[in-house]
Amino acid sequence: MTWLLLLGCPQPSTTSVVDADYDVFVDQVQPVLEPRCSTPACHGNASRPLEFYAVGWHRADPDDDFLEGELDEDELVANFDRVRAFLARPVEDSLLLTKPLAEDAGGTPHVVTVYEDTGEPEYEALLDWASGGDE
Ligand code: HEM
Repeated sequence: MTWLLLLGCPQPSTTSVVDADYDVFVDQVQPVLEPRCSTPACHGNASRPLEFYAVGWHRADPDDDFLEGELDEDELVANFDRVRAFLARPVEDSLLLTKPLAEDAGGTPHVVTVYEDTGEPEYEALLDWASGGDE
């Protein structure tokens, strides 16, 4: 992890990991992040702190890369643990939310803007899960 600090890469929160709902993650968040973030040039590779497994892309077993088979429980749990490591309190400060959001809508610098504003349904789905359904 130290070499990531030297490279100035954002680090998963070092404070306690924010509690989040696994079943809602599988039903509501995985389907949003899979088509949006998971190509190998993006989060579909092991070099990203936010590494992400997805059907047809990056898999836990490299022999399964690009295969269409459903993710297994271990892959979904790994995604859940990595994604919630980018949650924070207050929830709007979560890198999971600020990175894909346009900077002029309150986002933080990121290689690409995924959501132009906080009113986009996918952003709202991420925010709803990230805030434990409170928002
Ligand atoms: C909703 C979709 C996305 C979310 C939630 C997201 C989230 C994040 C987060 C939390 C980080 C910091 C941790 C890390 O470095 O892995 C990050 C960085 C990064 N993401 Fe994404 N990302 C998304 C889409 C994308 C896409 C589509 C690409 C490729 C075009 C991408 C490429 C990168 C790269 C190269 C970095 C490291 C450099 C930087 O911080 O900009 N991401 N992203």
